This record gives sequence, C-alpha cells and structure tokens, in this order.
Amino acid sequence: MPFEQAQRIQNLPPYLFARIERLIEQKRAAGVDIISLGIGDPDQPTPEHIVQELIKEAKNPANHQYPSSAGLLDYRRAVAGWYSRRFGVELDAQSEVVTLIGSKEGIAHISWCYLNPGDTVLLPDPGYPVYAGGAVLAGAVPHYMPLQAENGFLPVLADIPSAVARKAKMMFINYPNNPTGAVAGEEFFREVVAFAREYNILVCHDAAYSEIAYDGYRPPSFLQVPGAKEIGLEFNSVSKPFNMTGWRIGWAAGCPEAVEALGRLKSNLDSGQFQAVQYAAMAGLNGPYAVVDRVNGIYRRRRDMLVEALNGLGWRLEKPRATFYVWAPVPAGYTDASFTEAMLEKAAVVITPGSGYGSAGAGYFRISLTLPTERLQEAVERIKKNIGPVKF
Ligand SMILES: Cc1ncc(COP(=O)(O)O)c(C=O)c1O
Repeated sequence: MPFEQAQRIQNLPPYLFARIERLIEQKRAAGVDIISLGIGDPDQPTPEHIVQELIKEAKNPANHQYPSSAGLLDYRRAVAGWYSRRFGVELDAQSEVVTLIGSKEGIAHISWCYLNPGDTVLLPDPGYPVYAGGAVLAGAVPHYMPLQAENGFLPVLADIPSAVARKAKMMFINYPNNPTGAVAGEEFFREVVAFAREYNILVCHDAAYSEIAYDGYRPPSFLQVPGAKEIGLEFNSVSKPFNMTGWRIGWAAGCPEAVEALGRLKSNLDSGQFQAVQYAAMAGLNGPYAVVDRVNGIYRRRRDMLVEALNGLGWRLEKPRATFYVWAPVPAGYTDASFTEAMLEKAAVVITPGSGYGSAGAGYFRISLTLPTERLQEAVERIKKNIGPVKF
C-alpha cells in the first residue's frame, strides 16, 4: 500500500554508510575480496576488564529494570571525574552531564530541543552527517561553514554573513575532526565562544575523537575555554577510546540549561541505557588508561605505513595528529566519485568519497585505519599495483 511519507522523512537522505555497505555486499556476493577502508569502527576488542564488569553487572537483578533516562548518577560522576583528570574541567554530575545512547543519539536529538522549522543552524562542511540529519528532521535550514585546507580545516567565523549569524540558533563543530583529521587549539575554541556570545548561539562540540591522538598530542576539550560551559555542550563517548562502538553509551556535558532540555526530551523518547552497560563504561573511564595508548599505538603504525606509501606514489600528505582517518585529495583527472569507483573496480578497495560529507569535501577521499594491519597492507599493495603513481 503506498503510504505517503512525512515531509521530514522525504527530506532525509539515506545514511551515507548505508549506501557503502550495500555496495560492498553486492561485490562480495559476486565473489570479490573487497577491502573496506570506508567505515571508521575500531577493529580491536573492548578491553577485558570492561567486558568482565558488564558480565558482573548483568548478573545483578538490580540492573534488570528500567534505568533512569538521565543515567546513573555514578556514571555521570565517572564522566565528571574523567573531565577533571583529563582536562581540568569541573562538572556538576547532576546538572551538567546527561547520559546518551551513544553520542550520535544526543547529537541527533539536541536539534529538537533548540531548532524550530525554518531556524538557521551552522554546520561544518564536510561534516559528520548526523548534524545535518538531526537539524533537517527538526525542520531547520543549514548554513554550511566550509572547512578548507588553507585554513587548517577550521571554519572561518568572519566569513559567516552577520545576517546569517544573527538568525542562527545553533552551531556544530567537531575537533579532532571527522573526516579531515584536523585538530583545533584552544585559541579557535575561544573565538567560537566569543562568536556564540555575540550572536546568542548554542555551540555543540562533538569531541568523539578526543582520545585518538598521536605523537604526544593531547586534544583539548571545548569546555576548558572560559565561558564555554555557559554557551556550549560537548558530546563524547567511550566508543572510540575503548573500542565500544557496539555498546552504545556516551554523554553530553556542559551548559546546564541544554543538559536539562536534552534530558527532558530523552525522558519522553527513550528509557536510558542498560545499567550494566553504564557500569562497564565507568570501568573504562576509571580504569587503566594504558589500553587507550596501546590502541593509539596500533593506529599510529598503520597511519605511518599508509601515509608513507601514498606519499611514495605522489601524494604530499601530512600525518594526521588525531583521529583514525586519513583525508587526501584525489589525483589529477579524477573527481572523488570517479576515484572511488576506480579504487573499487581496479583495486577492490572501498574508500569514502569526500563529497559524501558535504560539497566542500569534493575532490577528497577518506581512508579509515580501523581494519587489521595486514588488510591495510594488502590494500596498499593493491593501490600500488592497480592505481600506481599519480599526479596532482
Ligand atoms: C564525528 C563523530 N561524532 C560522533 C560519532 C558517534 O559515535 P558514538 O555514537 O558511538 O558515540 C561518530 C562515529 O563515527 C563520529 O565520527
């Protein structure tokens, strides 16, 4: 029966990775050994002490009932304790932290708290697709802030027309950045705070990659900048540092008004996350940090191998200081779509075309380092053999 879909769903594009997954499935069904460098999802297992904590807490009947949708106070205290140790940021666990079913969930839902149909939202381009997805579902109109190589992939706030800035109600930023791998210093965050104060904009900083960094670099928190907590929320999760993407637990922290609004919305939508999962996430946040350093060491070696191999073929890439992504321009004679197709057809390697993250991503592609090192090596060999030296 042909049911007419709601306008908001008609406006919603299929999720970027859903298309890639379909493509991989088709090729695999045809018997092709595809290596996917497309999706950023840690390949290492969750550390054992976290798994053991889940098992212990799953056996406790006290955890079998509905959790509170704001999350266990102990979990929120663990988040606050981690912020204090890691960034020197003091948070009130009760009023300044809300538990999320993964940061993606909160990032998508926060738009419902502050955006009315027709409102303007400032979004990075290229950017993680969920910022636009949530905003479009709320009926808002995105104004894209291009992230360009010459500006270190930071948005130039002065380029936002003041008429747009006056209309904007929210801004999303994300550092360390997906897909560009760029990092931002406190100076940029200070500029964002001043801009948000001037135009009365809620800033949502997505810090999902704050713990994935190399060569001694430690990404700052947006909340460590003076005044940030009054105008901003920071989203993060245990997904990337502790290889827990499948567990679905994260948090939003910062501005108490926004924490309350998001918590109230969520209390009407979901019933929180299984408490045993919350205890397991606490074991990650409170536990030995060497597990994070170990995994970062693996990504760093893969990064070095890949970047050095691509540079040997003619690229001139700098090694990203954070995230498990390498963002690279396509060679002369290709668009990002045609290069992605050539990689798939000639080398049976899947990469993500930059324009999938927004029009300013055109001419680039993204490679993820989250697959076993031998497979990444095999992909590099295939690129050398079937794509060969390139020109720009
Ligand atoms: C930039 C960015 N933010 C947020 C997320 C969501 O992570 P999670 O929902 O697992 O916390 C991802 C996941 O890939 C991401 O790349």
